[in-house]
Amino acid sequence: MKVEQVKITEVGPRDGFQSESTILKTEDKIDVINNLTDAGFQRIEVSSFVSPKAIPQLADAAMILENVKRNPKTTLAALVPNAKGALRAVDAKLDEIVVFLSASESHNKKNVNRSVQDSLTGFKEIADIAGKNNIPVQGDIATAFGCPFEGNVTAKKLAEISNEYKLMGFKGVTLGDTTGMATPPVVIDAIHAIRDKVPDLEITLHFHNTRGVGLANVMTGLNEGITDYESCFGGMGGCPFAPNATGNICSEDLIYLLHEMGIETGIDLDQMISIAKKVEKLVGHKLPGQVMRAGHRLLSYSMDEVPTAVGA
Ligand code: COA
Ligand code: ZN
Repeated sequence: MKVEQVKITEVGPRDGFQSESTILKTEDKIDVINNLTDAGFQRIEVSSFVSPKAIPQLADAAMILENVKRNPKTTLAALVPNAKGALRAVDAKLDEIVVFLSASESHNKKNVNRSVQDSLTGFKEIADIAGKNNIPVQGDIATAFGCPFEGNVTAKKLAEISNEYKLMGFKGVTLGDTTGMATPPVVIDAIHAIRDKVPDLEITLHFHNTRGVGLANVMTGLNEGITDYESCFGGMGGCPFAPNATGNICSEDLIYLLHEMGIETGIDLDQMISIAKKVEKLVGHKLPGQVMRAGHRLLSYSMDEVPTAVGA
């Protein structure tokens, strides 16, 4: 099945900003999120309603939601770890709650200080609060393609957690490749196992480019007919509670690839490149994105700009 349209979630204001040691100003984050909405994103992860002690970079989630521009075409989502976070999200009029656990016990313990089973039990409480307030819930699985402490994660485990998500009425499952351990065969196994067990659950893929195969994994997803992906401006991002966690796949690079393949995203690549450059200035260091530097494939230069190779 040829994919003709893809929905990209920009996770930069959450996954990107949580990974920075400097805390950005709330007004700068709001400006970036407004730019993302204008660029055409249908879904943006704007922050997390987690403990500000765990992630001080995102302590201003409520302020962001209060002041950010709302557009009916753009869903504003945020991570929620527990009932306290869900109540904060309801107060902030969040469009969509994203709950998250790790497929592996050790990363779940590091990230949210509890067992996988306790996370699942807690999600029922979150789902209840969300249901009473008509807020849809998306279920993320971190370390879905491998764990930096435990190694391989089985596709069967992903299918079981996805089934629990379905039973709780979640709209879909996002497979998070926290430390970039996914490779095409692992991605195919995961998709097939989930589709076999929970055929009608929407799958979103969230890759990190830690080992340079992020976009190859997207190509694998496209071949499997997956139409939902998550990415980050400039290729920044990473979980502070996982060793060697580097950036997400880069939004501009992904959009460039998809557009070149004739796949629509609804996102303006030029605006996206400007956003990545703006964020690079805000964080004050070079970002790993490539299209933000190289520009479009057919960007042409004057011959006067380059010296001629003459011998001797
Ligand atoms: N929002 C704000 N504060 C919260 C909170 C939330 N959602 N959940 C807990 N807290 C506060 C509690 O009120 C308590 O505050 P106090 O010390 O002033 O009384 C403190 O945090 C500890 O609460 P507790 O329930 O014991 O949590 P914990 O210490 O076991 O931590 C989490 C559990 C889930 C709250 C924490 O690990 C967390 O926020 N993790 C998020 C990690 C993350 O976002 N990772 C990146 C994404 S992959
Ligand atoms: Zn991530």
